[in-house]
Amino acid sequence: MKKKILIAPSILGADYGELNKSLKKLESFSDWFHVDVMDGNFVKNLTIGACVVAGIKTKKPLDCHLMINNPHLYIADFAKAGASSITIHVETSRHLPEDIKKIKDLGCKAGVSLNPETPVSKISSVLPMVDLVLVMSVHPGFGGQKFIPEVLEKVRWIRKHYPKLDIQIDGGIDDTTAPLAVEAGANILVAGSYILKNKDPKGAVKKLRAA
Ligand code: DX5
Ligand code: ZN
Repeated sequence: MKKKILIAPSILGADYGELNKSLKKLESFSDWFHVDVMDGNFVKNLTIGACVVAGIKTKKPLDCHLMINNPHLYIADFAKAGASSITIHVETSRHLPEDIKKIKDLGCKAGVSLNPETPVSKISSVLPMVDLVLVMSVHPGFGGQKFIPEVLEKVRWIRKHYPKLDIQIDGGIDDTTAPLAVEAGANILVAGSYILKNKDPKGAVKKLRAA
């Protein structure tokens, strides 16, 4: 059976001075909020830490995408701050199975992410233990980049071998690329610019849901 499509606006493009207000406007038509955590080291951009996540007031699940080195040092902080799911990158985790177990032991869903150039073979051993996979469809670090269609092959492979797994796709998702991602097997669409920079965010989400 085809999995339900969930829409997760990325808050990267939100007004951080009025974060709760911005999220309130999106809440009624969003499924999750995607929180991009960047350390200025693993990626060339610096965003927010667990203390900002702790200040987010929403009824929707908070999905924290950690684009940071040494993620094991910060997992507990994000769990305590209210993350519903925590996704770490295979390129930075030094002890991937242990880190995934740590996330789960803290009561969060565990996700593993891979950059566009990282082959799926690098995560295949942990796929049976994660709740979600986040396939990056741009090079992580910034919103507003162009979707890289070659990553769809990885989505296809994962969906074929793990029919029930949640597969997120992140980067360059809009009404043109979303149908391609869904056709390949993604069921959670992360979208930043397309929703937050849209004059009609509700209409944008509706279009993504129809993908
Ligand atoms: C990029 C982030 C994405 C980003 C997506 O490193 O992981 O979540 O916010 O933004 P758009 O949808 O604009 O590509
Ligand atoms: Zn992200």
